[in-house]
Amino acid sequence: MTRERYAGVMSGTSLDGVDAVVADFAAAPGRVCETLGSAHIAFPRELRASLAALQSSGPDELARAAAVSIALADLYAEAILAACADARIDASTLVASGVHGQTVRHRPDLGWTIQLNDPARVAERAGVTVVADFRRRDVAAGGQGAPLVPAFHAALFRDALAHRVVVNVGGIANLTDLPPSGAVRGFDTGPGNVLSDLWHAEHRGGPYDEGGAWAACGKPVAALLDAMLADPYFAMPPPKSTGRDRFHSSWLDERLACAAPGAAPPDVQATLVALTARTIADAVRRHAPAAREVLVCGGGARNETLLRALAGELPACRVAPTSERGVAVEHVEALAFAWLAREALAGRPGNLPAVTGAAGPRVLGAVYRR
Ligand SMILES: Nc1ncnc2c1ncn2[C@@H]1O[C@H](COP(=O)(O)OP(=O)(O)OP(=O)(O)O)[C@@H](O)[C@H]1O
Ligand SMILES: [Mg+2]
Repeated sequence: MTRERYAGVMSGTSLDGVDAVVADFAAAPGRVCETLGSAHIAFPRELRASLAALQSSGPDELARAAAVSIALADLYAEAILAACADARIDASTLVASGVHGQTVRHRPDLGWTIQLNDPARVAERAGVTVVADFRRRDVAAGGQGAPLVPAFHAALFRDALAHRVVVNVGGIANLTDLPPSGAVRGFDTGPGNVLSDLWHAEHRGGPYDEGGAWAACGKPVAALLDAMLADPYFAMPPPKSTGRDRFHSSWLDERLACAAPGAAPPDVQATLVALTARTIADAVRRHAPAAREVLVCGGGARNETLLRALAGELPACRVAPTSERGVAVEHVEALAFAWLAREALAGRPGNLPAVTGAAGPRVLGAVYRR
């Protein structure tokens, strides 16, 4: 039997932890891949704090970034091995692992984006070939370096008849437009969970609002929603991408102080969920008005209040998690980096210039042999 096993490892802007999957790209005729196993490792509290501190400038950044990079590499290696154990396979049977790294700054406007990682150490620790550093080649070619997942979303979910949109709601939310024919497009719509996670941590403790239950107790504050929607990012035309560089706690605090200084915490949480739903829905209305199905993945797909708000915003669309089309919501992004590793080793481009704005298609990533 032909096998083509790859691992994919993603740790995103939510700073929640590491998602790893192992998939076989030759197992299932007519399907892109079959997921064989997966693992999630939550970031230890200290690592999470160190990563949060590196989101803005401070003393001794180089040494702190180096220390965090090796701590991340050890977790990435552990996650690959845990996903292999879940799949009951040996890591030596993997062709390669695509390891995204941890974005701490994203400034394609200045020509750079930083994903902390130590891929050489991942290769040593897990005994696998690692493909890493996927974004910088696209940025060097004048692109945003993001989002990189649309090509994979297209491979997984594009339909010959139905006009679909895929929305990944991580810390930042990104949208992929999949018309039955014509160009695939995609961009970051704005904050996904990043602001609601921060607000929840500040007022309730704990990393996130389980199921969106707390947000469901509140009522969106119109003045605050309007103040947030006035950020010029939302009206900017694609290609565009963003991160915690732009949407952070002071961004929220400034708008709260101006527009809703006395707002009740659950109402603010409800407003943040409304902001995510509205900005995704506006992006669909503006850039994919013919879409009839919105497939949601990422941790935000577990927020029922958000899914309800999105369905309410888009009455012409069926809004459903990607699991209804066969891929678990928490696997899609990690699978994308397994797929991108495979594209890199085959010498095929991984970016879509129509999405990132790069000068042309580019093979993404650097290879660290086992
Ligand atoms: N059960 C849940 N209920 C509500 N929200 C959830 C739940 N599980 C996860 N989430 C949300 O999803 C977030 C994690 O999502 P995910 O890992 O997809 O994002 P990410 O790490 O930013 O990744 P990426 O950058 O690849 O999109 C959590 O921080 C939380 O906000
Ligand atoms: Mg995550």
